[in-house]
Amino acid sequence: MILLALETSCDETSAAVVRAGRVLANVVASQIPLHAEYGGVVPELAAREHLKNLLPVVRSALAEAGVTPAQLDAVAATQGPGLPNALLVGLKAAQAAAFALNKPFLGINHHEAHLYSPWIAGSPPAADFAAFQPNISLIVSGGHTLLVLVESVLKHRVLGGTIDDAAGECFDKTGKLMGLAYPAGPVIDRLAESGNPAAYAFPRPLLHEANDDFSFSGLKTSVRYFIRDHPALLDDRQSVCDLCASVQAAIIEVLVKKTLRAAKRQNVRCVTASGGVTCNRGLRQALDRACRQNGLALRLAEKSLCTDNAAMIGILAEQKLLAGVPQTGLDEEIQPGWALT
Ligand code: KG4
Ligand code: ZN
Repeated sequence: MILLALETSCDETSAAVVRAGRVLANVVASQIPLHAEYGGVVPELAAREHLKNLLPVVRSALAEAGVTPAQLDAVAATQGPGLPNALLVGLKAAQAAAFALNKPFLGINHHEAHLYSPWIAGSPPAADFAAFQPNISLIVSGGHTLLVLVESVLKHRVLGGTIDDAAGECFDKTGKLMGLAYPAGPVIDRLAESGNPAAYAFPRPLLHEANDDFSFSGLKTSVRYFIRDHPALLDDRQSVCDLCASVQAAIIEVLVKKTLRAAKRQNVRCVTASGGVTCNRGLRQALDRACRQNGLALRLAEKSLCTDNAAMIGILAEQKLLAGVPQTGLDEEIQPGWALT
């Protein structure tokens, strides 16, 4: 089966072509420079940019895969969750393509797709991921922080999530308080490398609660007060690096300890992670160390597949179509608030 997948839920316009669990092409046009000027994603601009970029991105993906539209067997797109007008662009374009080609269409939950991104590329390939289930999957992005028990292919249960800010939002907002450019996550990652993670003590919210939920707004507030009370710190580069390392350490400790605890409680042998924050080198190293110490296998999404991409949408859509999951109607609407359960 050759499948074209589109992803336009936030600020990346992406098209991918997949076949038999392999990604033949995955083209991503990022809008980060456009939104950086405003310090966050501007939904109306995102939608307009998707409209402008979608067809060129689809054409490049088809060309890179060496596939013509007539060779496609199915089309898929992110149906939710995400920014309404942004989702609309990809979903309606994909439904129109499926209609014109008279091929099946599937609308995909963006977070369910993140669960599969650690299995794309690398070894073992996606087709072997059944061997590593059940697993505990951490999804950490700018909009979400979720812990999911993946019981088997296409069978999962959300164990917990953030009750307020997402981990990426915490990186971005604390970075903004320090005067760092948007998105601050990658900047904090870089500056933290030269900083002392024990320099300043910030709270580890919900670390000791016996649940799989997260909360990051208190940590953000505590950084806000700390900066208010020590404004001169921001004039000293080493202090900013120490601050970045200390904030990052607090976020990572909560993410890693709660993920490992969930893995132990659910008695799984494997942990996976995806979403933009999984690009963070400190998080990758800490998960690696913790999983080794606890005899758990770890699958991290490749960095290019941590952030939003259509490859993960296509890989999941192909699995679903092969499993006989019913198609999505060509007149079905976007689901901006579609929660993973
Ligand atoms: O998955 P993603 O591209 O989009 C959403 O669905 O939100 O994630 C973007 C988030 C942003 O908050 C960004 O700051 C964060 O991922 N991020 C990072 C790093 N790279 C991206 N956070 C910490 N360290 C990084 N290296
Ligand atoms: Zn995402």
